[in-house]
Amino acid sequence: MTLTFETRKIQPVKSEDKFETVNNINGSISEISDLFGDVFNRFHSVVDSSAFYEAAESILCNIEQPKYLAKCATLASLREPGGTFYRAKLWAKINNLLATENKANKKELTFGQVCKQVSVHPTTAKGYVIQGKAIEYVEKASISTIHLREAPTELFKYAQRQKERAGEYLIAAAKFINNKPNATLAQIHRDWCLKNGSRAANLDIIKPSDWWAFGNPKWRREDNFLGSIPGEIYANALYYFAPKVGIAVDPMAGSGMLKRVYDDRERWQKDSAFELEIHLFDLHPCRDFIKKHDARKPLPIKADWIFIDPPYFGQSKHLFYGDLASAKDYAEYLILIKELIQAMSKSLNPGGRLCVFLPKWSGLRPENPNHDIPADVYSFAINEGLIWIDAAFVSRGRQQEPGSAVKNNAAKRNRRMRSDTCVLNVFEKPGV
Ligand SMILES: C[S@@+](CC[C@H](N)C(=O)[O-])C[C@H]1O[C@@H](n2cnc3c(N)ncnc32)[C@H](O)[C@@H]1O
Repeated sequence: MTLTFETRKIQPVKSEDKFETVNNINGSISEISDLFGDVFNRFHSVVDSSAFYEAAESILCNIEQPKYLAKCATLASLREPGGTFYRAKLWAKINNLLATENKANKKELTFGQVCKQVSVHPTTAKGYVIQGKAIEYVEKASISTIHLREAPTELFKYAQRQKERAGEYLIAAAKFINNKPNATLAQIHRDWCLKNGSRAANLDIIKPSDWWAFGNPKWRREDNFLGSIPGEIYANALYYFAPKVGIAVDPMAGSGMLKRVYDDRERWQKDSAFELEIHLFDLHPCRDFIKKHDARKPLPIKADWIFIDPPYFGQSKHLFYGDLASAKDYAEYLILIKELIQAMSKSLNPGGRLCVFLPKWSGLRPENPNHDIPADVYSFAINEGLIWIDAAFVSRGRQQEPGSAVKNNAAKRNRRMRSDTCVLNVFEKPGV
């Protein structure tokens, strides 16, 4: 094995992990000097970045012992640029080697033992493996890593936090930096969040309780349809209330959010393995995959799961066409909603479920009445022979909307609480 690079004084030390101290590394070098002393000494002391990269690549190609690779990873982590990149690649190689050994049934060393040998906590090392696998993913996609190699440590941590999407994150980052080599970390990360949602949006989409608040919706509102609801509501409504197989319909589909969320079900369905047939309708379809139908008439297809998100009373005129959005008063709105519930009830297969998503209406002034729309819907559904099975309460986040301070103050002054919650009532058609 020939490794050629300069030997000069070491770069200033930068240690991230309290386990990885310079003394520890120096001790390690002397311990293995017989075998790889020259390699390690050079790797330890090279100053020039390109020589460091050359050395690191050579080590990756030529060293097959997990313990020595781990020591090199620790040395790499003491320098930038490139140290984080090669530390990750080295740990990924260690992980691959140990996996191959395990497969071959000659399990000589465990991951934990390798970590112990270099005093790196196993959880930390597993993080480096995730980063390294993400780099391998970029390389497999034949995307240049020349700029990525010099990216700051934080970028690789951001990738790691995306868990199973770490590779996709680094691919997006590599492409972004290749187009714009001076891009800042914030620009790279913002670009990812715009397309994929923030990390908070990527936290578990399925809620454990009946309080659903989605501050960072994952499926962004499309510019040409302002009345969509967070896709997370569809995900939870499907997860908790849809059958695994059957026909699922959104008869007031709007932007077609149900389809986006269902197509993306790998992100939230856990072990459900849904195989639903999705149908979308709307009185005014605005996507080519949505068919025209008036939801006040029974659907052209019998469904096992129906989700309706009708225009809300008194606040949708500027967003949607149609009677419900422009009903002149609550009495007229109720007539339309009743027809809607009757038609949807008729459209359900026995055992099928109807999810109705609506807020209560809160009058703005003390003299205005409040209307409990979810309660009225409940009565209509029960009269149709449906059985109420559950309800979830969904934050509309109105208090926090930009520019809502005036409305919040008026609400307090007038002692009229703003309507800030939608109720998702779920009904079931009795089975045969
Ligand atoms: C609140 S939006 C639904 C938004 C949808 N949930 C989303 O996330 O994109 C209400 C939709 O109901 C539709 N609509 C209104 N009256 C209807 C009717 N009678 N039959 C079918 N659709 C209707 C409107 O055109 C509008 O697209």
